[in-house]
Amino acid sequence: MTNSRGARNRNDAEERSPRESESTIARAMLPPDANPAGNVFGGTILKMIDEIAGIVATKHCRRNCVTANIEHIDFIYPVHIGDLLELKGRLNFVGKSSMEVGVEVFAENLEEGDINFAGRATVTMVALDESARPIQVPRLKLQTEEDKNMFKAGLTRYNERVKRLKMLKRTKKRGSN
Ligand SMILES: CC(C)(COP(=O)(O)OP(=O)(O)OC[C@H]1O[C@@H](n2cnc3c(N)ncnc32)[C@H](O)[C@@H]1OP(=O)(O)O)[C@@H](O)C(=O)NCCC(=O)NCCS
Repeated sequence: MTNSRGARNRNDAEERSPRESESTIARAMLPPDANPAGNVFGGTILKMIDEIAGIVATKHCRRNCVTANIEHIDFIYPVHIGDLLELKGRLNFVGKSSMEVGVEVFAENLEEGDINFAGRATVTMVALDESARPIQVPRLKLQTEEDKNMFKAGLTRYNERVKRLKMLKRTKKRGSN
């Protein structure tokens, strides 16, 4: 069955909690990841943010997922060669085919054992069917107060994104006339 926008409808009985898809990845930072002074590139961290968001979204829907948007990125603590970068990803919000993943980044100085909160980002992933069209994903099962608060905040951001995308599409149409 398809909806008005062409996305296939989900089975509404299907719902999964954020705990079923939350994930962690970690990798030690090496010289190619950094500038000559030893500071890790923002791009290295962004790539890992994209990777963890993809893992979380795919676990939730068991479908191919692509990145639609990365926002609210903050790099708040410098990461250096030799640090272990650990990224934790968790679903904040699920729309129809889109899923918002919150990512937190931690840097561990392996010799000292200090762990610092190094950054965070919000990533929107979209699930695609075999024809590369958006497909509906399982709903998010909200079990805790935290789940509900995160979902509510995610819904506000989703509505803002929808408004912005509508404007963007209108501007694009005018530009192509
Ligand atoms: C993401 C993509 C599949 C959306 O396709 P589309 O034809 O615009 O689909 P729709 O308008 O039906 O939107 C589908 C969903 O994606 C969301 N979405 C679309 N563009 C988005 C964007 N830029 N940011 C956040 N969400 C977005 C919509 O809000 C909608 O969410 P919902 O189903 O939960 O309501 C399409 O824009 C695309 O393929 N982009 C490139 C993705 C990619 O290759 N990324 C890797 C780097 S290039």
